[in-house]
Amino acid sequence: MKVAIASDHGGIVMREEVIKLLEQLGIEYKDFGCDCNCKASVDYPDYALPVAEKVANGEFDRGILICGTGIGMSIAANKVKGIRCALVHDVYSAKLTREHNDSNIIAMGERVIGPGLACEIVQVWLQSKFSGQRHGNRLKKIAEYEESHLN
Ligand code: RB5
Repeated sequence: MKVAIASDHGGIVMREEVIKLLEQLGIEYKDFGCDCNCKASVDYPDYALPVAEKVANGEFDRGILICGTGIGMSIAANKVKGIRCALVHDVYSAKLTREHNDSNIIAMGERVIGPGLACEIVQVWLQSKFSGQRHGNRLKKIAEYEESHLN
């Protein structure tokens, strides 16, 4: 599995912890920034959209996006066709959003939860599988909407 990860300035510390976890788990990843040494504040869409596009076009299997709350990242990522980005701050939702929503990106907020919980969430999210069946029909309705209403 190939994972794309990025954060804005509000998620740098959590991103570094999640990257350590990916390395421990032996998961291939690419870090799309922002620059950890940069003291300036950056714009989360500049990080969310490239990651979302790379997941949508199949270059990466999953994406992990972190900002202060996770909200801006999730809003931006979900603008990209084919992206199902889940804003998650608990382990139960991490499991269920894979099983029911087949989420391909997870967003989290460094100002909302600690790095320990974030790593637990990421681990569960990476390991959980889509259940298919009735959930597949629901995702099909979203995909059909995207096809007919979005360019
Ligand atoms: C940056 O200050 C903050 O707005 C951003 O990290 C994020 O929380 C937006 O949703």
